[in-house]
Amino acid sequence: MSSSQEKPQLIVDGKRLDGRAFEELRPISIKTNVIRNAAGSAYIEWGTNKILAAVYGPTEALPKHTADPERAVIKCRYMMAPFSSLEDHGRTGPNRRAIEISKVTKEVFENVVLLENFPGTEINIYVEVLQSDGGTRAAGVTAAAVAMASSGIPMSDVPFGVSIGKIGDTLVVDLNKIEDNYSDADMPMVIGPKQGNLLLLQMDGNLTKEEVTSAISLAKKAGEVISKLQSDALKEPYLKTLEKYKNEAPSQQGNKE
Ligand code: CDP
Repeated sequence: MSSSQEKPQLIVDGKRLDGRAFEELRPISIKTNVIRNAAGSAYIEWGTNKILAAVYGPTEALPKHTADPERAVIKCRYMMAPFSSLEDHGRTGPNRRAIEISKVTKEVFENVVLLENFPGTEINIYVEVLQSDGGTRAAGVTAAAVAMASSGIPMSDVPFGVSIGKIGDTLVVDLNKIEDNYSDADMPMVIGPKQGNLLLLQMDGNLTKEEVTSAISLAKKAGEVISKLQSDALKEPYLKTLEKYKNEAPSQQGNKE
């Protein structure tokens, strides 16, 4: 959110600037197995956001003092590539915002990964934003969740992220950057869909108690679409293998049928 200086009109004739309805997500596509050396990986395009997520581990936690003998530790690095937006980004390492997003992402996964299964180890999550247009923490967690699931590391749930904003008195789903800059409030959330657990909730601006409740409902509703895309992305490599097997099967099985 920012000042109302030269604030553009974000809703015109009941539509948002990019033509979306208030509750409409940007187009999302997710692909797994995109980084060969990772235990699990995913690439997400969410509107014009382009984000890679890779998961490594579990491996011995190093340096040793970071290890927990009872459970795995999660380490996370969220970064925006220097060329990812028109704004200037440091080229030497994560800035304060990246450190904050890394921290909240790590906390999301600490609450869903079955850490006790891997004592003394670390699991590394990398989220690299190649192109950004608002909502990258939500899209980054969504991709990282697919990467984690595709690695086979057991999780109690596959979380998704989405941001709900307020433009004037209207709640809107999935703010893009211009909306994020000039909206009256922005509430990024990460939810575990199985039980509707809120794994991350941040807020910029002001929302009433009722608006917060409605925003959570809107996020859960949007999550039905996002979770389905996550699950389809996770199934895709298996469906491809199955398809390949089906095509090869007749020649291998001879004339049994
Ligand atoms: O990306 P997200 O909405 O989770 O984070 P934000 O801090 O609310 O930033 C909104 C958007 O502003 C980002 O997605 C970027 O497109 C842009 N931004 C940027 O380009 N450089 C920054 N240092 C901060 C934000």
